Amino acid sequence: MSLSRPGDAVLIVGAGLAGLFLALKLAPRRAIVLSPTKLGLASSSAWAQGGMAVALAQGDSADLHARDTIEAGAGLVDPVVARLLASEGPSRVRDLIALGVPFDRTPDGALAQSLEAAHSRPRVVRVAGDLAGKAIMDALTAAAREHAHIEIVEGRRAEALLQDANGRVRGVRCEDGTEFRAADVVLATGGVGGLYAVTTNPPQATGQGLAMAARAGALIADPEFVQFHPTAIDVGRDPAPLATEALRGEGAHLVNGAGEAFVSDLAARDVVARAIHAERAAGRGAFLDARQAVGARFPEHFPTVFNACLAAGIDPRSELIPVAPAAHYHMGGVVTDIWGRTTLDGLWAVGECASTGAHGANRLASNSLLEAVVFAARIGERLRGDGVAADTPIVTPPPVPLLPDVARTELRALMQNHVGVVRDARGLYATLERVGALCAAHGPCHPLTAARLILAAALQRKESRGAHFRSDYPHVSAPKRSFLTWQDIGTNMDAAAAP
Ligand code: SIN
Repeated sequence: MSLSRPGDAVLIVGAGLAGLFLALKLAPRRAIVLSPTKLGLASSSAWAQGGMAVALAQGDSADLHARDTIEAGAGLVDPVVARLLASEGPSRVRDLIALGVPFDRTPDGALAQSLEAAHSRPRVVRVAGDLAGKAIMDALTAAAREHAHIEIVEGRRAEALLQDANGRVRGVRCEDGTEFRAADVVLATGGVGGLYAVTTNPPQATGQGLAMAARAGALIADPEFVQFHPTAIDVGRDPAPLATEALRGEGAHLVNGAGEAFVSDLAARDVVARAIHAERAAGRGAFLDARQAVGARFPEHFPTVFNACLAAGIDPRSELIPVAPAAHYHMGGVVTDIWGRTTLDGLWAVGECASTGAHGANRLASNSLLEAVVFAARIGERLRGDGVAADTPIVTPPPVPLLPDVARTELRALMQNHVGVVRDARGLYATLERVGALCAAHGPCHPLTAARLILAAALQRKESRGAHFRSDYPHVSAPKRSFLTWQDIGTNMDAAAAP
């Protein structure tokens, strides 16, 4: 089946915060937004509890925010991008307020800003405590549905980029065979958490955009850096509910099963995740104690966490919350410049699937929603004018099989156990071999391609930095980002996996 679309549109693949904010910013240019599910159901953005980091408070500044971002990123943040993110943030928050996002206010009407780990100032704007993601997405969804220049197509998941003979991206093919053509294509497909057994992401987040772009020849950066949130609520739910870092910002603290503190509560996210991993591996368990710090204020101040705990039979006002690290955010992705352009003509990327250089080896908390809106606005600025419709023939991309459930479950366990918080060559090679075998059995499914990109870079990085910790290389080497293409690594991998 082929639906021919007028070529002047911008095709946005993904309908989370980055995708919808960009669609709104494109007015009056026509935007087609592809959402793999009904709008809002498969987006990590809507689940974000923390909010958006933005330097607005007295005594804070874009310089300080940029400095914290650079420090958290463990040597790999691009300082130009950090500065741009921090300085454009306030305008983007004002855009969201104009769209009706009801950020929490102090009694005197100023934006309330809370503290999260590795921020030197309280600078996270929130909604009703832990409902920022949902409130932002509700406002954007309502606005996107109202604007005539935006067409939302629900229930279609892209599987391959359509390119002409020169490699220029001209559209996408969806899993059901439908094709969408456009003058410009923007990937806003989210992250890779669904490749892991324990994740805070929706199950659809399995590196679809990363894999599509890599297979089409785009440059990929830093895929080995997968951030684990230290405090997912460990109650056996998939995806795992989150206990926002803001709880520790309010004074909640981590203890092991013996009630002992084992890490500084507001240390960088990777440090806390490794400490919790170690306590759990040693059989001592890890718990968040918010009884004193939040206590009776829980239902009103952290309703999402409160309800997730109650649903699991835990009353966090009087009981400890069992926690475990969970795959949460991908720092790596499709390389873009400061305007969101990838290395492929006609292809742009924004949000978690992009690698702008803002996050380095370890994203600063609540910088992801910020990055999504800052870069969506920048792409909007570039693409707002008319696109050039082109009619060049498309080179048909090869079919992309779907990964069967049983193989997906195996992949998630492998990634969790060997490509997670702590890694070593043995586990990485063993996983690479099994992923190759899964590829031989099931073909070049996107989750396998995404896993192979992560594995290749994790094997190549023989040091420990930020979210990438190698127990066999615990030291830090000279700071260097990873840049790779599928053509560099994948051809050999496909050949090795061939039956
Ligand atoms: C959190 O609320 O702890 C998550 C915020 C984030 O990942 O930026």
